Amino acid sequence: MQSTYSTMGSSKTAILSGRKLIDLRSDTVTRPTAGMYDAMMSAPVGDDVYGDDESVNRLELSVAELLGKEASLFVSSGTQSNLIAVLGHCARGDELITGDDYHIYIDEAGGPSVLGGIAMCALPTDHLGALTIAQVEAAIKPDDIHCPVSRLLCLENTVHGKAQSPDQLKSLADTARAAGLMTHLDGARLMNASVALGQAPKKMAEPFDSVSLCLSKGLGAPVGTVLSGTKAFIRRARRDRKLLGGGTRQAGILAAAGSYALDNHIERLTDDHFNAKRLAEGLSTIDRLKISQQTNMVFISPSDGRQAELQSYLSDHGIVISAGVPSIRLVVHLDVNEDDLGRIIDAIKKFYQ
Ligand SMILES: Cc1ncc(COP(=O)(O)O)c(C=O)c1O
Repeated sequence: MQSTYSTMGSSKTAILSGRKLIDLRSDTVTRPTAGMYDAMMSAPVGDDVYGDDESVNRLELSVAELLGKEASLFVSSGTQSNLIAVLGHCARGDELITGDDYHIYIDEAGGPSVLGGIAMCALPTDHLGALTIAQVEAAIKPDDIHCPVSRLLCLENTVHGKAQSPDQLKSLADTARAAGLMTHLDGARLMNASVALGQAPKKMAEPFDSVSLCLSKGLGAPVGTVLSGTKAFIRRARRDRKLLGGGTRQAGILAAAGSYALDNHIERLTDDHFNAKRLAEGLSTIDRLKISQQTNMVFISPSDGRQAELQSYLSDHGIVISAGVPSIRLVVHLDVNEDDLGRIIDAIKKFYQ
């Protein structure tokens, strides 16, 4: 099947057979809006490896300010940001403690172990994506020659769309810090959590030594993540970014898209959350589906196990999903509007008729 791109509304949107293609696989699929393209086109740039790209510098300063940290670094992806953070906090033979369904453990190709010689201790998370103080305490290794050195606690927010409260994360971070560990937050979707809980980004970031914030997910930028922490940590991170081949030159074109996203797309995340809720409600009358929703993600678990058939049926109707088992994740984002919700609900209802 062939798709083309055309301008619809403010966004470049994929069109399939004259109809808008609705892509629910992730919030990473969004295309820059017209305003974002304008910001990219007019971005002042320099060579960021020399530190003189004005647009990158502006973005780094504004994220540090947003999260209440001393400094920030613009990097190419969430994966690179987490890896740079881990390399900054840990040495070979150290261990990081994290959740068994957190991205850093299951979806980043084992980077900390492969490239950093860092062991990963993954603790089972509960149905809300959380860890407990008791779990973290029990996982921190004694000073024993048989053990790796527990050096870092890595948490995540949101976890598969579930917002983690800053107080709860603070109690985990405090536990780690009391035992001499550093703390890192994978905040790929931290702004979704902040908006959903009505808590300031600074408060969400406060318990952590370093925080990774993605611009290319719900915020709608095409590329980029910003890693924040102390000045000394970011100085080291800049070296590790270079080591990993992530030093780029006129990166201001991309940083400008990120700044535009921060200036224009944080508050509107409430629209995505509202639309995700409406989608979940619209599907709730289908008795073969178990549904859960938080922030911008709706999970549907079909009792008949026909995920692949549903995927193919929706694809024929211009709706793209991943056929997850047991749950299918439907992600609502900048390029999904109210009309689209009606189309999605109708198509899924028809499939189950
Ligand atoms: C929670 C979380 N952390 C990190 C990442 C990695 O981001 P990237 O795809 O930019 O490497 C993702 C990607 O979806 C994610 O969901």
